[in-house]
Amino acid sequence: MSETTVVVRADLPIGTISPRVYGQFAEHLGRCCYDGLWVGTKNTSIAHSGGWRTDVLQALKKMPVPLLRWPGGCYADHYHWRDGIGTHRPVRLGMSCGLTVEDDNALGTHEFLDYCTEIGAEPYLAGNMGSGTPQELCDWMEYCNTSLNTFLSDERKSNGRNQPWNVKLWGVGNENWGCGGNYTAEQYAHEYRRYSTMLRHVDEKAELVICGLTDDWNRVIMNALKEHLFLVDHVSVHRYWAAGPAADFGEDDYYKMIATSAETEPFIEATAAIIESVTRGRKKVGIALDEWGVWAPEAKPEANYEQVSPLRDAIAAAITFEIFHRQCNVLTLANLAQVANVLHAPVQTSGADFWCTPTYHAFNLYSPHIGATALNTIVDGTSFVLPDGTPGLSATSSAASNGSCAISLINRHLDQTAHVRLHGAPGTASIGKLLTAQSPNAANSAVSPNAVAPVELEIGGDADGGWTCTIPPHSIATLTVSH
Ligand code: AHR
Repeated sequence: MSETTVVVRADLPIGTISPRVYGQFAEHLGRCCYDGLWVGTKNTSIAHSGGWRTDVLQALKKMPVPLLRWPGGCYADHYHWRDGIGTHRPVRLGMSCGLTVEDDNALGTHEFLDYCTEIGAEPYLAGNMGSGTPQELCDWMEYCNTSLNTFLSDERKSNGRNQPWNVKLWGVGNENWGCGGNYTAEQYAHEYRRYSTMLRHVDEKAELVICGLTDDWNRVIMNALKEHLFLVDHVSVHRYWAAGPAADFGEDDYYKMIATSAETEPFIEATAAIIESVTRGRKKVGIALDEWGVWAPEAKPEANYEQVSPLRDAIAAAITFEIFHRQCNVLTLANLAQVANVLHAPVQTSGADFWCTPTYHAFNLYSPHIGATALNTIVDGTSFVLPDGTPGLSATSSAASNGSCAISLINRHLDQTAHVRLHGAPGTASIGKLLTAQSPNAANSAVSPNAVAPVELEIGGDADGGWTCTIPPHSIATLTVSH
């Protein structure tokens, strides 16, 4: 058992943890939207509310989903929003990531935006810059956002929605360096300038997201926009991790996943440096990590991009949350890919069966940090390290406006328990939750939906007014301390 001290530095705040960094992503890909979220109102025996499956709806209401991105992904650059409004919904080819299906467009703009209201999520719409036009995207923005009396707002009203939704976040394309049109960075920047200029005229308050990639592309697009920075609010980047299979991975794969998810931080820092080198404080442009998560080798097109989601992936998600907190001054939003069934999903379904993955529970464990002030958190555990020499225990903490302080801990070690002393979080009461299992391979399923679920964390007091707790190997925990 290893002794580790965690010191919360309430005197060293980092910044506010935007609710937007705890976002989710719903793409019309495989069984994410259709089947995972939406079963429609016809020909289904699955309980639903207006077409939305009830089990998933209830689960998403209990998990923080402050932001939801839709309808893609690669799907967005084929999507024509008019197909998904009104009573006549044409069946089109639904295309993304090599899957081509019949798409009846039953889940469209009204359904999606009303779902966001229901689950308390801010919507984030991804526009079509692959097969669409600036006019088409301007029209979608006008349809959603204008309060003036126009042909499009009349149409919105006749489709049942009087008030505009005022959607703030608009992606101008998706992965346009690849599936979204195979643009060069120069071509894309040129087109982006045109699209975003027109969109600004429709709704000057909308926040526009430019499609980024890695350093070279990001440098080119930002430099191309340097005299038009008012057109850029966020730079979209994506990060997927692979480290051995999702099921039956070994020790090496486990540690590889820990290391790979941690590499997200230098990537965010490098992206922030490129943005800053162009903006030089003239305009706040944030980073939108609007797709992130584990993409296991099992999640192939033939498998509808589905994978088992073990405890290991919840630990990888928790490592990412720590990064989000440390980088909260440059990271403005983030979306786990994807919210149901596809890739690193917090909820999974099979027919009428439904279960939450360990990652779902990780989101709930970290929810006290949402909207709070991230605090510097020092971990002193020099003797408790992973095989690569990096710390075995890591931590993040935040102060909420009600005076409480939340501290989340990750024991990254595969087989060693951590005994933790916690200082700098004064209070008289503490509660704690722990997510653990015998093995990081443990996962939930239709037959064992609660194999991995949070339990109470035992917390003790120490003589110096601090707290103590024991964190089993490959586990995550959150303590909340209040007066
Ligand atoms: O999330 C799956 C796919 O990954 C998205 O459609 C695309 O943007 C990315 O390549």
